[in-house]
Amino acid sequence: MPCEVVDLRKWRLPMDDEPGLPAAGHYVRGHTRAWSRKVAGAAGIVFVTPQYNWGYPAALKNAIDHLYAEWRGKPALIITYGGHGGDKCAAQLRQVLDGLGMVPVPTMPGLVLPRPLIEANTGKIDPATEFAAHVPDLQQGFRDLRALIRGQVPGAASTC
Ligand SMILES: Cc1cc2nc3c(=O)[nH]c(=O)nc-3n(C[C@H](O)[C@H](O)[C@H](O)COP(=O)(O)O)c2cc1C
Repeated sequence: MPCEVVDLRKWRLPMDDEPGLPAAGHYVRGHTRAWSRKVAGAAGIVFVTPQYNWGYPAALKNAIDHLYAEWRGKPALIITYGGHGGDKCAAQLRQVLDGLGMVPVPTMPGLVLPRPLIEANTGKIDPATEFAAHVPDLQQGFRDLRALIRGQVPGAASTC
């Protein structure tokens, strides 16, 4: 199943700049229309987000809030990272996705970043080493997501 990385640093969505209600779907900004097409075209979404002060970053909420109907019914996998993995951020994000009618998978991998790595802040990381302990969780999350996209029940026997 092909994946595309959609980096919000490259999708510059100004804060709350659509005059109408996103639920009405009448977008006036070109960037919102492009964002709408991008999200609508995805079979499922993997949210990868850091935890900031027990929550998720404003840029992610703003990107979510620019749209509405595009999210509905979409399978989603939430992956967080941070000094403590990000379970509180995952819980908040899950609540928002539930409110939008998305279908988040039960597994929410939380990648723990070692303190020296956070403090060095080089942006460089060796995932094979740092995230080795999270591989089973990540595999489960992606299995669940794939099952949902294929219309199956997550956790049911699968060949992948
Ligand atoms: C403003 C801010 C708040 C943070 N709050 C938390 C937190 O509540 N829990 C946690 O585990 N890590 C926290 N961290 C650590 C980040 O999750 C970690 O630095 C992560 O690498 C940031 O991701 P980014 O570099 O992609 O922004 C915080 C970092 C920042 C900058």
